[in-house]
Amino acid sequence: MAVHEGFRTTAGGLRDCFPLRLYQKAKRLGVWDPVTFDFTQDRRDWQSLDELQRETILSLTSLFVAGEEAVTLDLLPLVVAIAREGRIEEELYLTTFLFEEGKHTELFSRFLHEVAGSPSDLERFHVPSYRTIFYEQLPATMERLLTDTSSEALARASVTYNMIVEGVLAETGYHSYHESLAANGLMPALCSALVEIKRDESRHIAYGVYLLSRLVAEEPEVWDVIEARMQELFPYALGVVTETFEQYEGGVTPFGLELSTFADFATAQFGKRYDRISRARGKSLAEIDAIAEDEAA
Ligand code: MN
Ligand code: FE2
Repeated sequence: MAVHEGFRTTAGGLRDCFPLRLYQKAKRLGVWDPVTFDFTQDRRDWQSLDELQRETILSLTSLFVAGEEAVTLDLLPLVVAIAREGRIEEELYLTTFLFEEGKHTELFSRFLHEVAGSPSDLERFHVPSYRTIFYEQLPATMERLLTDTSSEALARASVTYNMIVEGVLAETGYHSYHESLAANGLMPALCSALVEIKRDESRHIAYGVYLLSRLVAEEPEVWDVIEARMQELFPYALGVVTETFEQYEGGVTPFGLELSTFADFATAQFGKRYDRISRARGKSLAEIDAIAEDEAA
């Protein structure tokens, strides 16, 4: 039977640490409401697009909306694992994390419904690498935390969720998509929503950098698990991009989205986080807070 040995709040109170500060930030910035976006102009823009332009938007949205649904469905085992360890400050942050993923799912679903006429055949855009990550690897590594909360299992889960899905795919996808829509003066409500979503995602990734750095600081051998998992999944992340873009003549889509923009941005962000987490070896918990603050800055 599970028991509590004691409570943080009755033994000196919540600790000032990076996850608690991230929680405070999320309460200020993560409270936007998907329902308040007015898609009237976006709908007009949609009606003015040609077939190929519509297919491009549907293709990207199909990756985003299912990705958001997947991360909403699959986060809970991590919350359970952290709560079981009594890490109340991290759990407070995670309460905002799941709420935000739910809102991202709602936002893209609403866009498809109100702007794109509720298509029901979007799984045709889910290329093989996308299926490997979102249909198989993400749910399997997350669900494993229900029965295995070893540092290795936590590290594999966080690399998959925070570093690959969020840190490479979501961040790169939203950045490039937002830039190209804004440059073409299209979909103003979706563009404003993407700004909110990107800001939420940067906190999620900052938490992931914190968690992985903490695991490495506690057990330096965990770095090898992280490195191996990153190397294992990065080709699939790039595969999502290349397989999606090879459907277009010369890799150039309508709206001027280019394969190389995605690939370069993804590679740069990946490298930056890789370095940060590798620096956690042999560091104290206070120093881990500093590494995480760097990420969040
Ligand atoms: Mn999200
Ligand atoms: Fe996220």
